[in-house]
Amino acid sequence: MVSRDVLIQAEGLTKKFDDFVAVDHIDFEVHRGECVGFLGPNGAGKTTTVRMMYCFLPLTSGELKVAGLSVNNHCREIKSLVGVAPQEDNLDPDFTVLDNLLVYARYFDIPKDEALRRAKAQLKFFQLEEKSGTPILTLSTGMKRRLIFARALLNEPQILLLDEPTTGLDPQARHLVWDEVRYLKKQQVTIILTTHYMEEAQALCDRILIVDKGKIIEEGSPAELVKKHVGEEVLEVDFDEKLAVILKEALPGAHIERLGDRMQIFTDQPHGVFEGFLKEHKLQNVTIRNANLEDVFLKLTGRGLREE
Ligand SMILES: Nc1ncnc2c1ncn2[C@@H]1O[C@H](COP(=O)(O)OP(=O)(O)OP(=O)(O)O)[C@@H](O)[C@H]1O
Ligand SMILES: [Mg+2]
Repeated sequence: MVSRDVLIQAEGLTKKFDDFVAVDHIDFEVHRGECVGFLGPNGAGKTTTVRMMYCFLPLTSGELKVAGLSVNNHCREIKSLVGVAPQEDNLDPDFTVLDNLLVYARYFDIPKDEALRRAKAQLKFFQLEEKSGTPILTLSTGMKRRLIFARALLNEPQILLLDEPTTGLDPQARHLVWDEVRYLKKQQVTIILTTHYMEEAQALCDRILIVDKGKIIEEGSPAELVKKHVGEEVLEVDFDEKLAVILKEALPGAHIERLGDRMQIFTDQPHGVFEGFLKEHKLQNVTIRNANLEDVFLKLTGRGLREE
């Protein structure tokens, strides 16, 4: 049973860069042991929000508390409780893999022996043992991401901020990260995760906040969001205007979306409705699949690319 302690609380949280509002009066709460996903298009304000949580960026207005402490005047305490895997690579290029971890551990006053024990355990878990003595510059992109995650765990944080932790990882490494996140959730670690992988959000997050243009536009568990916005199943078939009309008549309330030469049909009817339709109408090149979070994301945030 997840306790309802509020570990992160934002009220009217706002960040402006000159006149540009990157985070626009958002309110949210994160409870102990929850994994909350921030999903949103490029430039939505996810990284900016996460950065305010660990005092990397000051707020423009509003309130933000982490573990009950205001980020405005308790940065030291907050930093000791939080583990951060930032979106950017901020590893120290002058040090080796192991030394990056050991130097980082010093900020938390972890005794040397203990720091070495933890660093070695993390390198082992993230399969970086062999790279222990090598300089950062010679690591591959995915290895750097793994090291950044490993580093975030060194102070055994109660709160973990993961900004796109699996971008650039191969499938094996991604599953390693997922395993670790699941393990940490069992330990009641509170996790904020941003990701562009909807499958990842669906697999790991208890709750999702969809952000767009600095605002939270929707919130719920992955299953709730899918059910509410796209129903249970999606029918995909080659685009055909006549067929679209027939579908609309046969399935009242269905929502049809054209994607190039294909179309997707969403309905709030339960499983089986498309199968019924296909028994009456023989179609080629047709698929019925379960609705998913990516459908929700595209429906709520649109299909156009976000340009900065
Ligand atoms: N230091 C800064 N100075 C000026 N503008 C900034 C700064 N940091 C972020 N922005 C702007 O704020 C907006 C939000 O950026 P942010 O990095 O939070 O987006 P994001 O949701 O993390 O996007 P992505 O998915 O691409 O990582 C963008 O328009 C970005 O250009
Ligand atoms: Mg970002």
